Parts: sequence; C-alpha cells; structure tokens
Amino acid sequence: MLLSTLVEAAACFGTPCYVTDLAALDSAATKLRRAFPDPWIRQFSLKANPLPAVVARLAAMGVGSNVVSAGEWAAATKAGVPNHLISLEGIGKTDSELQLAVMAAVNGKPLRWVTVESKEEMSALEKLAKAAGLGGSQSSLKVLLRLNPAVDSETRADFQVGSKVSKFGMPEWEMRELVQRHAETSSGLSIRGIHVHVGSQLAATEGWAEGGLRAALLLAELAVDFEEMDTVDFGGGFPAGPTPPLSDFRSRLEQRLAMAGAELPTRTAVEPGRCLVAASGWLLARVLHVRQGQSGPQVVVDASMSELIRPALYGAHHEVIALDLSGAPSAARSATEVEGGVCESTDTFGVHELPPLRRGDLVALTMTGAYASAMFSNYNGRPRPPEVLIQPDHKLVLGRPGEPFAP
Ligand code: LLP
Repeated sequence: MLLSTLVEAAACFGTPCYVTDLAALDSAATKLRRAFPDPWIRQFSLKANPLPAVVARLAAMGVGSNVVSAGEWAAATKAGVPNHLISLEGIGKTDSELQLAVMAAVNGKPLRWVTVESKEEMSALEKLAKAAGLGGSQSSLKVLLRLNPAVDSETRADFQVGSKVSKFGMPEWEMRELVQRHAETSSGLSIRGIHVHVGSQLAATEGWAEGGLRAALLLAELAVDFEEMDTVDFGGGFPAGPTPPLSDFRSRLEQRLAMAGAELPTRTAVEPGRCLVAASGWLLARVLHVRQGQSGPQVVVDASMSELIRPALYGAHHEVIALDLSGAPSAARSATEVEGGVCESTDTFGVHELPPLRRGDLVALTMTGAYASAMFSNYNGRPRPPEVLIQPDHKLVLGRPGEPFAP
C-alpha cells in the first residue's frame, strides 16, 4: 500500500475516514490458512469489523463468518456468506435471535452451528426448537457448548474471558450435566461439541493451548457416550503483530495434546478477528489545533474516541504517522501529544514522534482495521465517517458512505 493512496483517500472522501487495504486482508487470510490449513475451519469474528466488503473478501479467501447477533448475521448475509458457513455465538443472544437460528434450520438453511453459553440458554433454544417442530423430518440444528476453561491467558485482565471469574461459558461440571440432560430430550438440536475462547490480543501461546487442551479432553470424555460430539472451536485471540506467529498457537496445542496422550478432534475450528483485519486499516485525520504543551507540541485532530475508542478504553497505542504536510516534512521530529476532538480528557491518542504539524495537515492512525469502526459511537454528535477500500490495483472505492448525524 502506498501512503500516497491514503492522501488521495482523504482528498476524495474527507476526514475522519476509515481506509481498508483489501490486499492486506488477502495476505492475512493466507497467513491464517497456512497456520490452520484444511480441514481446520477458519471463521472471521465479525465483531472486529463487520463491513460487508471486508467479510466478503475474507470469505472469498476461505474464511467463513462468526457472528454474535442478528445484526452481524445480516452483515455476513449481505456479504454473500451462506448460512452453512456462518456460526452464531455471543453471550447476549435474545429469544428472537435464537428463533431466527431455529427458523433458518426449519427452512433447510441451518447455520454452521450455534454456540450456547449456559443451561438456561440451552433450555430457551430447546423450547423454541420444539415449538417450531425442528427435528423429525425437519433438518436439525448443530450446537456447540461454550466452556469456561478457567484459564488465565497472556493478555490484559479485562481481555481474559476464559478466566474462572468471567461471565462467559459454563464450567465442566455444568456442561456434563447439560449434555446428559439434553440426551433425554428430542428437540432437533444436535450437540456436536465444545467452543472455547480464552482471550484477545494474546501475547503468548500457553493460555490458548491450555484452554484448547481442556476443551479437547472434555470432548473426548463426552464422546465416549455421545459419539456425535466431534467438534472443538478453539476461538480466536491471536495478536495483530507478528509474534507469536499464528502457527505457534497450533503447534503448542498439538504438543500439549500429545503430552496428554490425546489428539485433535475430528472437526476443529478457529474464529479470529483482530489478526485478520487490524493491519489492513487506517483512520485518517486532519490537524485542528497545534499548541505548545507541557513537554512538547500538542495537536488536536478531527478524529476522536468516537471513531477509535481503544486508546481511551484500554490505553491502546496506535502509531500516528504524518502524511502530506503543508510545512517541512523533513524537519526534525519531536515527541508530540496527539489528542482527539471530543470533549473528554481521556480522548487522547498518546505521544508520537512527529514532524512539526499545522492546522489542516493529514495524519493517519495505524492498525485500525479491528475494533475501530466496529466500536464507533455518535458521542458529541459526531457522524459515522465513510469507509473506503483500497482495491489491489490501488483504486479507491467507497465501502460504506459516511452518515449524517440524525438526532
Ligand atoms: N471469539 C470470541 C468468543 C470472542 O469473544 C472474540 C473477541 C473473538 C472470537 C475474536 O477475538 P480476536 O481474534 O479479535 O482477539 N474490543 C477489544 C477486543 C474485544 C474482543 C472481544 N471478543 C479491542 O478493541 O481490543
């Protein structure tokens, strides 16, 4: 990707503006396929970036969709992904969302599977499935059960969703009970396996492999009595950067299984978000104010926590680079505080080595392909920015127009 293409995007579509490089998506999908080759099932977790053009591009590269709501499911459908390549999970599924999944199965277009979070959610799904007459001559709906593996993974505490105290998934004992009880009901739901996800932005492979090992061992135990249980979805969580490499996650899992005298289940899946899209995205912004701060220049830009909340929410660092400067781009760089344009002190993008900037200069926040536009908010009455795609031939197309803010 040429930086001049970002300059062109800002000139054509204004700022703030999200830009996605489609060629970068292709190479991320290729890396994922190398690390988890067929027959691994590769799915993209849409929560990182549900833009249909992004979802479609990844689907064309052999990465299906993993969705957590009817809204994300609709985005996958809009991207042309058929139901049999879409899995539905999420802790917040409502009755109407479960009903949609049941009806899709009744109509002969079942999702790849639905992941169930708790005994209560399973009862709700069973009730809906029975009421809709699923089963018998109707097609069935595959279900995975989400395990809480009680594993602390190598990431910040609030991303450790596999920890014992997290709200996600069920402990092993509850899953055993659920599987036994379900065997006595006939609902057209077929429990096919276990889902596990230990956390996001993992800095090492151990927690992921440990969670995966626990899921695989529990599956093997349950499959003795329930032979249709043959699947583990090992979740996502892989980092956006190069380390640890994706293939280390798989090889560490395989090592741990071998040490335990176990094997990978028949069907295995992953569902990353960040590692597929983060590096493909930029958030473009123009400088609004420049002044001398306490320890160096301080600039306020026309992007903010509304367009990229990660720094305010998690203290995340997104490198800021300067583009298309009106002044002297080769002038000495200095530590510059880059601030967002919303009325909150936490709306700051941190300190970056930048050349002198003036009002109107263009900057880009990097690594914003994941959890940036997906977490946009209208706070301060800010309109949703346009999303622009860089095609592999460097041409720019609009992936989604910006929206005027309509209170
Ligand atoms: N599967 C499940 C069950 C998840 O909860 C998540 C992310 C993923 C897959 C995808 O994880 P990834 O491969 O992207 O790490 N907003 C935060 C990230 C929250 C992740 C939530 N769950 C951020 O901006 O970093």
